[in-house]
Amino acid sequence: MYIITGGGSGIGKALALALAQRGKAVLIVGRRESLLQETALKSDLIKYLCADVSKPDDLKLIQDYLHATRAITGLINNAGTIHPVASIMTINSIEWHNTLGTNLDAALFLPQLLHDKLAGGRVLNVGSGAAYFAIKGWTAYCVSKAALSMLTRCWQQEVDTLSFASVMPGIIDTQMQEIARSGDNMDAEHTNFYRRLKRNNRLVAPETVAEFLVWLLLDTDKTRYGSQEWDIYDTAHHQEWLKAPHQVLHWDF
Ligand SMILES: NC(=O)c1ccc[n+]([C@@H]2O[C@H](COP(=O)([O-])OP(=O)(O)OC[C@H]3O[C@@H](n4cnc5c(N)ncnc54)[C@H](OP(=O)(O)O)[C@@H]3O)[C@@H](O)[C@H]2O)c1
Repeated sequence: MYIITGGGSGIGKALALALAQRGKAVLIVGRRESLLQETALKSDLIKYLCADVSKPDDLKLIQDYLHATRAITGLINNAGTIHPVASIMTINSIEWHNTLGTNLDAALFLPQLLHDKLAGGRVLNVGSGAAYFAIKGWTAYCVSKAALSMLTRCWQQEVDTLSFASVMPGIIDTQMQEIARSGDNMDAEHTNFYRRLKRNNRLVAPETVAEFLVWLLLDTDKTRYGSQEWDIYDTAHHQEWLKAPHQVLHWDF
């Protein structure tokens, strides 16, 4: 079984469907039941659980739900939030901890809780290029993704019973990108860049990201899997996973 947090929309949804197409059982987790239900209805192999991964009690709920599951093949820490999009001077503690809880803490505590069942399996942390450059108003997001990248390396160093990797999935046509293009985004340069990408049909489709992640999870050997922080724009591996009609366009546009 594969567990995908944030599986009711965007990348998580596309990945759930792509794994199911490869015959894998999937549990998707998120807060909005309607979205989870809609995804699960598309395949008998997909089940869902409502849980907020920023809350310790809900992580325990996920562990309890899986008590009868013998083995978990993969955990994809994909749930993410870009909120608060706010000046660094105005971020409040509740918003900050909610973002860090979702984007970072879950990738520490969920593998801890599921470790025994995950033995021999893979954990994939969905990071972001925003880990490596500051975007005005995105402090909590950039910091959480930078920390997630380091957390992945710390897991790799200390625990060899599971395989860990992190991935930069690109600039993707999802709900999160809608926020990035909206008037709420304080960084005019990036907002205009994202709007240009959308206008010119250069955002990556979630289904293309799913092809990439499925290749990482199912078709790479363990040594290669943990060998780098994966970047969808790295042309060195496009030929391994891109199949028509999927395409990925370089972001430097
Ligand atoms: N779109 C991009 O351009 C882009 C670029 C780089 C990285 N990423 C990363 O890709 C991942 C997926 O994002 P996306 O682009 O597919 O956007 P999305 O459609 O907004 O997906 C985010 C998912 O996370 C879930 N989620 C958020 N907070 C949660 C919480 N506390 N507990 C459980 N689930 C939660 C949401 O569902 P609920 O609200 O129902 O809980 C939603 O399904 C994120 O980690 C994001 O940072 C995206």
